[in-house]
Amino acid sequence: MSEGKTPPRGRLIVLEGGDGSGKSRLTRELERRLSDQRLAVEAVREPGSTPLGERIREIINSESAVDDALAELLLFEAARAHLVARLIEPALAAGTHVLCDRFTASSVAYQSYGRGLPRAVVERANTLATGALTPDLTLLLDLPPAVGLARRHADGRLSHFDALPLDFHERVRAGYLDLAAESAERWRVIDATQPFEAVLEDAWGALRAVVA
Ligand code: TMP
Repeated sequence: MSEGKTPPRGRLIVLEGGDGSGKSRLTRELERRLSDQRLAVEAVREPGSTPLGERIREIINSESAVDDALAELLLFEAARAHLVARLIEPALAAGTHVLCDRFTASSVAYQSYGRGLPRAVVERANTLATGALTPDLTLLLDLPPAVGLARRHADGRLSHFDALPLDFHERVRAGYLDLAAESAERWRVIDATQPFEAVLEDAWGALRAVVA
């Protein structure tokens, strides 16, 4: 790039959904498709993708689960703040598109609708951690929690969130659907009970409209 030219800012695309909804596989496929089109793209996950974030992920997923909802929220927010500062903002500023496997909506869905923290508290923490960074597009992989949990059991990737009662996961799902309805122009709800290829085509169609 010649000196003095600022590249157009990259787009932030977030994948959200309950456990076992297929976000991680979809993130990988979308990253591959964008790369195939010679678009600069970086894929990250929450919590994680920085050394601090990965350590926080280990703490949260450890057997002695964090047993306080506010402490849990703040751990997710610390990981998020580090990820935004170290990877997401620099990438967007350099014109790289960022695919993020979970972001602020996860905290609203899990820590507010799921755990019961006031939504205003979670939103304040989200704003603090991200500097009010808002995704250009959020793809919500929606499916009944029982289906997602059965998939997680089948592939043996259970975390302590998976062990929470089904009504916790039902509240998380309801939270996501509320968020999607509140900002319909920036969210796309995808039926994640479909075969993966159909999910991928729905997601790709929505993403192309944003990165074109
Ligand atoms: P995952 O990598 O399978 O998505 O696991 C992350 C778990 O952490 C998942 O159960 C959702 C949960 N989570 C929250 O509760 N709040 C958050 O803000 C984030 C990012 C994840």
